[in-house]
Amino acid sequence: MGERKGVSSSKVVFRKLLLFFFTMTSVLFVLSWFYVMRSTYRPHFIEYSLLPNSKHLSTLDGSKYDMQKQNVDSSFGNRAILVDSEDLKEGGRRKGPNGKEKVVKHRGKCHQNDELVIKVYMYDLPAEFHFGLLDWKPNGKSVWPDVRNNIPGYPGGLNLQHSIEFWLTLDVLASEFPEAPKARTVIRVQNSSEADIIYVPFFSSLSYNRYSKRRPNEMKNGNMILQEKLVKHLTAQEEWKRSGGKDHLILAHHPNSMLDARMKLWPATFILSDFGRYPPNIANVEKDVIAPYKHLIPSYLNDNSTFDTRPTLLYFQGAIYRKDGGLARQELFYLLKNEKDVHFSFGSIGKDGIKKATEGMRASKFCLNIAGDTPSSNRLFDAIASHCVPVIISDAIELPYEDVIDYSEFCIFVRTTDAIKENFLINFIRGISKKEWTRMWNMLKEIEHLFEFHFPSKENDAVQMIWQAVARKVPAMRLKLNRHGRFSRSPPSADKELKSIPLPRNFW
Ligand SMILES: *[C@@H]1O[C@H](CO)[C@@H](O)[C@H](O)[C@H]1NC(C)=O
Ligand SMILES: *[C@@H]1O[C@H](CO)[C@@H](O)[C@H](O)[C@H]1NC(C)=O
Repeated sequence: MGERKGVSSSKVVFRKLLLFFFTMTSVLFVLSWFYVMRSTYRPHFIEYSLLPNSKHLSTLDGSKYDMQKQNVDSSFGNRAILVDSEDLKEGGRRKGPNGKEKVVKHRGKCHQNDELVIKVYMYDLPAEFHFGLLDWKPNGKSVWPDVRNNIPGYPGGLNLQHSIEFWLTLDVLASEFPEAPKARTVIRVQNSSEADIIYVPFFSSLSYNRYSKRRPNEMKNGNMILQEKLVKHLTAQEEWKRSGGKDHLILAHHPNSMLDARMKLWPATFILSDFGRYPPNIANVEKDVIAPYKHLIPSYLNDNSTFDTRPTLLYFQGAIYRKDGGLARQELFYLLKNEKDVHFSFGSIGKDGIKKATEGMRASKFCLNIAGDTPSSNRLFDAIASHCVPVIISDAIELPYEDVIDYSEFCIFVRTTDAIKENFLINFIRGISKKEWTRMWNMLKEIEHLFEFHFPSKENDAVQMIWQAVARKVPAMRLKLNRHGRFSRSPPSADKELKSIPLPRNFW
């Protein structure tokens, strides 16, 4: 008996030791995790270089949402570990773009992607949701125009900057024709079971621009009514019920579009301009796709300018905002208004403003992008089209296809808190050498085609880059769906709690 007691008490000691070790390791792990999180939690200025041969990396956006997002979808993130620590050190140290050659990550990669074709099932929504908004009327059975013969025109002016819905839908329609370009990234399939993604062709930005004004004696405006109809229609579809919307793609590029419907359709992947108006559980870097604005300023063809022939150092033209995000604009105005080679004026570009802005941007070395009432604007894409090196002061900005492009190669990022310090910005910009500027200007000319919208789409233009970005989301969608469906063949469980599997919170 005595011997037995001895054995069991040594067992207890052993167990206690084991428990102690376990606890210590856990504590150490948690601490190291926090350390990694903290050291990567630095907005902008830092190059988040991709690991070699790694295609599917999410970006760290450094926004205040980051920590919360970890909780939202902890199964897909792991973003913090993917930062190359050498680069981090260097990025933290450096004052501006260094001379080190770094390849824009899309090159090479996209050529591999030529074979990557995404299969899309597009709902045949009634025309009032898409081309009907362009005053096109279906004749015959099809709800779609024959885009080989007749493409309904999208309204011009400021509408165009959010016309992504139009270009993507045209691309899906065109993919069916035998004469479709070879370098396509999308192909329409008629059987939804064979599709990678279910595309919802609602022109939500146009619906917002056209119908969001309420007439005096109406309770709801046309835009709200259309969104209600869409939610009702979608949630009744077999495809939606099958996945809960997780494999659906919905367009909401205008920050105010889908204001009502998005709270109901959020399991889907959205195409957005930024996350400014979205809580992180509704939209985030992991789930959603950021698309560029269509620039309003014409492309600068045969740009023969040089550092010395662009007389203006820094250019800004924009509306003045008093809301929280836009305060920096006023501060910067007071800091910069007396600098001789800085153009800083308020007023949004209207119809005749485009010509002036075109001349202004083409005559400037650097173009300012300051957060307005949303973190993004078409100004960045106007600057790229003008080969005017963008200076981005917008801590919560999201950039299109940032998982394959290193924007620090051709943009300058400045934290808002730094930018509004006296003389900080102007000294920083003046400190950028002709050689550095020229390198970035050359890079702008190399990458500008990634932000051009075409019909038919061209190799690696904005249309195809957006589809490729969508394609990179597909594996994560699959994972979510498959996890969700594990028990689909089991008899239904009485216990509600067991119906969905919880996401893993840790590694053991
Ligand atoms: C659609 O595809 C699935 C899977 O490939 C197949 O089982 C089904 O029969 C197809 N449906 C039609 C109508 O062709
Ligand atoms: C660029 O080309 C245009 C016309 O082709 C010419 O008018 C202009 O002077 C040139 N600018 C420079 C800086 O060479």
